[in-house]
Amino acid sequence: MEGQVSFDFTGKRVLVTGGTRGIGRAAVEAFLAAGAHVAVNGRTEGSTAKAIALLGIKAVAAPGDVASAEQCRAVIAMAVRDLGGLDVLVNCAGIARGGPVESVTETVWDDTLDTNLKGTFFCTQAALPHLRASKGNVVNLASDAGLIGEVGLTVYCASKGGVVNLTRALALELAPDVRINCVCPGYVDTDMVRRDVIDASADPKATEAALAASAPLNRIAGPEEIATAILYLASEQARFMTGSALQIDGGTTAGHPRSGA
Ligand SMILES: NC(=O)c1ccc[n+]([C@@H]2O[C@H](COP(=O)([O-])OP(=O)(O)OC[C@H]3O[C@@H](n4cnc5c(N)ncnc54)[C@H](OP(=O)(O)O)[C@@H]3O)[C@@H](O)[C@H]2O)c1
Repeated sequence: MEGQVSFDFTGKRVLVTGGTRGIGRAAVEAFLAAGAHVAVNGRTEGSTAKAIALLGIKAVAAPGDVASAEQCRAVIAMAVRDLGGLDVLVNCAGIARGGPVESVTETVWDDTLDTNLKGTFFCTQAALPHLRASKGNVVNLASDAGLIGEVGLTVYCASKGGVVNLTRALALELAPDVRINCVCPGYVDTDMVRRDVIDASADPKATEAALAASAPLNRIAGPEEIATAILYLASEQARFMTGSALQIDGGTTAGHPRSGA
């Protein structure tokens, strides 16, 4: 594909949580194309099996709800058993529940923090012995919303800010054996944005234009653009990177847009 960066993951064993759709699915496809053996995690056996069948790919299934520490351990155990070890863990499973502060329930708080932050921690913890053995690495999905605030997304922002600083703290503790970095995408064209925000709005065209305009580069990203950054961080080319938060956001977090003054 034009503009596609190529990485070599021949024989590497990779688990992508949230690999059934969106960014995770794009990462699964990119790792497979780069020669990796891949385990795909989705929340349920059904969603995971469906994704693997739909893609027509040679990947193993490691279903489980990462909001539960016990299921994180089971997901890692399944992936390690079927792949014969682990070189790369991509913590991509995530949810975004929007709404004003007054509308946030304890369930929304718990579901968001448990999936996005707790799941990232406990999958990483369970993967550690295997990653230490392989001198492997972890790539976490944070967000531009982990670096700056966003109206109507307070709980999501808290969870992703947690992922950014969790990444830094883990990088210090796991060095020099295991590298860990995160990516911070802006708006990406996946179910999370296309289905749940744009198409669910009263005026999808205007909503998409507004989301695009929030980035200086004036568009939303394709999932494959984020997958490229994930593969880069997981690759040998990024061997001196750990504790990084890599922005792929069209400039959203670069600063204030031109004021016109
Ligand atoms: N889209 C964006 O604009 C954007 C921007 C910045 C960061 N991100 C982050 O990037 C990651 C992927 O986002 P996306 O846009 O690709 O989302 P998506 O299209 O909504 O897909 C979400 C993925 O996460 C999985 N998942 C959700 N909850 C889970 C759980 N409890 N246990 C296991 N798997 C679970 C889903 O599996 P099922 O198919 O089984 O439901 C699916 O594979 C998320 O962490 C998100 O916060 C997204």
